[in-house]
Amino acid sequence: LAQVDVDVSQVAEGQSITAKWRGKPIFIRHRTAQEVEEGKNVDLGALKDPVARNANLPADAQATDANRAAPGQEQWLVMVGVCTHLGCVPLGQSGDYDGWYCPCHGSAYDTAGRIRQGPAPENMAVPLYTFATPTTIRIG
Ligand code: FES
Repeated sequence: LAQVDVDVSQVAEGQSITAKWRGKPIFIRHRTAQEVEEGKNVDLGALKDPVARNANLPADAQATDANRAAPGQEQWLVMVGVCTHLGCVPLGQSGDYDGWYCPCHGSAYDTAGRIRQGPAPENMAVPLYTFATPTTIRIG
């Protein structure tokens, strides 16, 4: 399927779901205010990958917390749930950066899905998506 609509009306703050798009897991996380705050407070100089990797933005957009989400919808994080090292599926709510942890070789991602530790070279990819309705995310 080129596009997939995901109903997120039942995903409470602090919860995540995994959708499927083009055969890949798509992590959709309803971030807590604290997670967003944490993401915003990261000094960009501390990031291993300074690029947003957000298909909705120019290729050179900076990896700010805002650039990892959609405007006005910063509580939602939508990304391809594939580790950018060798493609394992990271575990949510894990690791030293309060985001995701890849058990294959120990890559840790932060609350905005940015790589912070371990061998993965890039932030997890944000796919093309829009809000078809306030509670429906259209991926692709
Ligand atoms: Fe994730 Fe290697 S595949 S750390």
